[in-house]
Amino acid sequence: MRLIVCDSQKDIANFGANMIAEVMASKKDAVLGLATGSTPIPMYAELVRRYEAGELDFSTVRSVNLDEYYPLAPDNDQSYRYFMNHQLFDHINIDKNNTNVPDGLAQDPSAACAAYEQLIRELGGIDIQVLGIGGNGHIGFNEPAETLDPLTHLTDLTEDTIRANARFFASEADVPRHALTMGIGTILSARRILLIATGAAKAKAIATVLSGKLTTSCPASLLNLHEDVTILCDCDAVSLCDEKTLAAFA
Ligand code: F6R
Repeated sequence: MRLIVCDSQKDIANFGANMIAEVMASKKDAVLGLATGSTPIPMYAELVRRYEAGELDFSTVRSVNLDEYYPLAPDNDQSYRYFMNHQLFDHINIDKNNTNVPDGLAQDPSAACAAYEQLIRELGGIDIQVLGIGGNGHIGFNEPAETLDPLTHLTDLTEDTIRANARFFASEADVPRHALTMGIGTILSARRILLIATGAAKAKAIATVLSGKLTTSCPASLLNLHEDVTILCDCDAVSLCDEKTLAAFA
């Protein structure tokens, strides 16, 4: 696990975009695993800037998103499909047919989840998976629990997550109570993982991840099982890590 602590959002956006550009340069039809939420927005803006500057070409890139609320229509302005179109896909030359987000309206969610796993296999796997992290340590919508699901599945959102995500909805009551999400095993099967964490609300979860211990009460701690994880943070997100832990990553 590699830890990069940046002084500004701009540096985080640049560093993250560099990692994605590196993967795209090494593989023309790279498969990008993408996340929604506030955290990756500056990095997506930087990718758009580089595309507009002629530095990046997404025409042969494929993408798979981590998760989608359930039930929620793709054209609902709170859906993750809508988010991705607005934050990234509408502004770059990616073929929308090559972009994939779990189907928030699937009639048969378990069949849709199995099909999503099959799709990822057919794409040849994920070359780089971008992650944010919940204040409770969730990645995707793999919430703290006694047991965790390995593969893409339908899940219930915790009260913590519903409360945290209510800021994007008219009211807390409007937040869907379920989501389709890649599982921990799906995420760990990506060749590289980039987790971005900003703000003090993420500090406890990041301290748990960096402790190196595994616990299902902080699903992100399972990233310690992967050999190519970069954690890109601001100072606030590492504010609960002790000197010894930080020194180990220096
Ligand atoms: C989003 C996702 C979530 C978020 C996490 C952090 O696709 O899977 O795990 O990454 O909830 O959200 P923000 O970035 O809004 O703090």
